[in-house]
Order: sequence, then structure tokens, then C-alpha cells
Amino acid sequence: MKQRFPSLWLTPALVFGLAATSAWSAPERPRTDIALGRYLVKTTGCNDCHSPGYIQKSGKTAESTWLTGDQLGWRGPWGTTYATNLRLLMASMNEAQWLKHARTMEPRPPMPWFNVRAMSDGDLRAIYRYVRAAGPAGQPAPAAVPPGQPVSGPVVQFP
Ligand code: HEC
Repeated sequence: MKQRFPSLWLTPALVFGLAATSAWSAPERPRTDIALGRYLVKTTGCNDCHSPGYIQKSGKTAESTWLTGDQLGWRGPWGTTYATNLRLLMASMNEAQWLKHARTMEPRPPMPWFNVRAMSDGDLRAIYRYVRAAGPAGQPAPAAVPPGQPVSGPVVQFP
């Protein structure tokens, strides 16, 4: 009995100690629009396709390049699509137009438009406000190429 005593108070101390180190503490969901928009762009996947080199560099690309579109083609039965430059797109819309667009658009694959449509108004507004605060940047992404036509540059080939 005497030997077990220290472990009874050491165990909670160890658990709290580990939880307090930064490796174990989870980020908070931000409350203000711009910070929330940044958080959503990062955690709901928009950067994965719309930010150049983002996946290849494990997310370690300059934030100034986020959502500026990509030259990587996505090729399948729908032709070849390129992730849109959202910094330019949102600069051309007001917030009400963005909300309507986000709720009605059906771009070609691999754009998961159904996920965007499932977002709350608050989350969609937060994304818009983050992107507008970042401002327009970069060039438009290449135009989509119809099915069966050749493309130059790298592509991800779907069956
Ligand atoms: C798997 C890759 C991928 C992911 C993830 C992704 N997108 Fe896209 N997105 C694309 C591609 C490719 C297009 C272009 C589709 C086309 O040309 O029809 C596109 C198009 C769009 C468009 C349409 C632009 C227009 O011209 O109307 C919007 C808006 C958009 N994406 C927003 C988002 C947002 C917001 C997120 C994060 C929630 C996101 N996307 C996540 C690949 C992706």
C-alpha cells in the first residue's frame, strides 16, 4: 500500500503536465471574422487545391500566396480544370454576391462545391472577409480545357 501512494498523485500531475506542453494543446476556433476565415481556409481544405504548392510543402507556403489559384490541372471525363484564383474572384464580388454564388455554384470536379454549400452563412462570410482583407493577388488560373483536348503542364489524371 505504501508503495502505490506516490503513483496516485503522480499520474494526474503527469497528465496535466503533458497537456500543458504546446505539442498537446489544440488551437482554439477563432471568433472574429477574419481570423475565423483564415482558420476555415486552412482547415476545410481550400488551401489544398487553391494555393500553389500547398500540399507539396505540407502547408508551409507564404500566406501571401494563399488562394491565388494553381497551374496544376485536374484531368478526367470533365476535361481539365484548374483551381480558381479566389483572391481575384472575391475581389470582383460583394459579400451578398459571394453568398449567393457559394450556395448555387456547381463547378466541375474536383471542386467540392457541396461542402461549401453546407457551410453556415457565418462561415461563408468569414471566408469572404478573410480573402478580401488579404486583397487581390496573382494571375488568373489557366482556363479549363474541354474533354479530350491536350494540355501543357502537369496534371492529376483521374480514371
Ligand atoms: C480538391 C481540390 C479543391 C478543393 C479542396 C477546393 N477547391 Fe475550389 N475549385 C477547385 C477547382 C479545380 C475549381 C475549378 C472548377 C472548374 O473550373 O469548373 C474550383 C472552383 C472553385 C470556385 C468557383 C470559382 C468560379 O469561377 O465560380 C470557388 C468559389 C471555390 N472553388 C471555392 C473553394 C473553397 C471556398 C474551398 C474550401 C472550402 C475550395 N474551393 C476547395 C478545386 C478545389
